[in-house]
Parts: sequence; C-alpha cells; structure tokens
Amino acid sequence: MSQRHPLLKKCLFPAAGYGTRFLPATKAMPKEMLPVVNKPLIQYGVEEALQAGLHEIAMVTGRGKRALEDHFDVSYELEQQIQGSDKERYLYGIRHLIEHCSFSYTRQVSMRGLGHAILCGRPLIGDEPFAVVLADDLCLNLQGDGVLAQMVQLYRQFRCSIVAIEEVPAADTHKYGIVAGEAIRDDLLRIQHMVEKPEPAKAPSNLAIIGRYILTPDIFDLLEQTAPGKGGEIQLTDALQRQAAEGCVIGYRFRGQRFDCGSAEGYIQASNFCFEHFYRKGL
Ligand code: G1P
Repeated sequence: MSQRHPLLKKCLFPAAGYGTRFLPATKAMPKEMLPVVNKPLIQYGVEEALQAGLHEIAMVTGRGKRALEDHFDVSYELEQQIQGSDKERYLYGIRHLIEHCSFSYTRQVSMRGLGHAILCGRPLIGDEPFAVVLADDLCLNLQGDGVLAQMVQLYRQFRCSIVAIEEVPAADTHKYGIVAGEAIRDDLLRIQHMVEKPEPAKAPSNLAIIGRYILTPDIFDLLEQTAPGKGGEIQLTDALQRQAAEGCVIGYRFRGQRFDCGSAEGYIQASNFCFEHFYRKGL
C-alpha cells in the first residue's frame, strides 16, 4: 500500500442538522437518534462503517446532540440493573461497537451546510482519506457487503474520491446532488458534472448522490475555497465538482437498498423492512 494513501480507517458523521422535518420528535432529541424499530439511525451507520473496517468514528455534532455521545458510551446503572437477565442481549450490538471503535467529537457552531460540517471535521480526520456517512440515508444490503465496504474495495483500486449514486425519479432531482459522466463499467461512472439540487429541467441526469462518500483529504482545501452555493450554504457537491474537474471522482451504483429516513415515507419503509428482516428474526 502506498504511503500517500494509507488504508482507510476513519469515518466522519456530519450530525449537527436540526431534523426539522421530524418536529416535534426532534425538538429535544437528535434526529440521528430516531429509532428504526429498536436501533437508532446513527447506530446503523456506525455498524456499516465498522463492517467496512473503519473503526475510527468522528462525529460533527451541535447543540442539543449530547445523546449521541451517551449512546456510544457505557451506561453503568442500566447495565448493572439488567446484568445476567435475558434483556442483556439487547445491548450486545452497541457494546460490540463501543469495544471495537474509537469515537471523537467536535461541534459545528453555525449551520452553514454539509461542506462546512465536513470542514469542521478536519481536525479529527487530518491528512488522510476518509469515509462520510449521512445517517439519514439508511443503506442495507442483505446479500453481502454493506455499501461502505463495497466503496472501500473500490477505493483500493481507484485511490480517488468516490460517491454512491442511485437513479431517482426525474421530478426529485431538486432533493439531491446530481451527477453525470462517462461510464467506465456497468456500475461505475467517471464524473464530469455535479450540480447540487437542480430543478428537473436543469438536471444533467437523474443519477443522485446518496449519503455515502469516500473523500481524499485534498477535499478540505477545496472546501475552504468553496463559496456558499445552493441555499447560501457551503456545498460538498461544489467542492467535489472541482475535484472531478482537476482529478478524478467516481460515481458508484451500489448493491443494496437505501431508505431516505429524512422523510416520513422512507422512515416508515425502513422501519417495516428492518422489522421484517432483523427484529422479527431476533437479529
Ligand atoms: C445532501 C447533499 C446532497 C446529497 C444528499 C444525499 O443533501 O448535499 O448532494 O444528494 O445529502 O442524502 P441533504 O439531504 O443533506 O439536503
């Protein structure tokens, strides 16, 4: 493995957003703690990261998000209470994560967009490639490797930034970063254009960016130079567009399913899916 690109080991979770679409549930509780059946959204994301071999978890949180830190810590009183009872098994999953991952946190003080949130994570990441998970997008693959694990494999081959992509209805392009480029394999695109949330008439395709990224560390300098874009926010998509123009960014059509848990509809679908495939089977 070359020195310039050490093995990926860090995963950044931007988790400072307010979750206004789920008010009042998210008034005093972080949206990332919303349970999909019995497990908070963020835990699915951390499980996916660990399964991909990324065990250094970095979170960009904000005011009112302390429950995230408490979740990835032991709870002595509770654990003492249920020790030895059959309820203890409910904690096996979270204990496994706590034992196998390290967690570091920083805060985004003002909400200036996804690009800005990632820039806030720079001190936790340093000068190495890293993955990004947007926990709202719940990605599951019952057939094998999770989406991040698939992307880590690709990174070994391409050594450049990689974004997960998926076809969306043309009418929905205004909800996503949209990409277009040259196909280099059935499931791979060398990206030439990226636009943040274009209206359908201005979208270069209907291929949307999903909340899984692998980024090379030069993204930080690019983000620093990125002016506010769509919605007056610093957009990761704009910095990636420059990276694509000056080097290489790959779009990857992943294997598996993605649920948009930032919307009530996607959240309910995810809950039904997880109930059927995991909870009911005691997984
Ligand atoms: C963000 C990104 C967007 C991407 C989306 C995936 O938008 O800015 O490019 O398509 O995540 O979920 P958000 O959903 O945070 O508004």
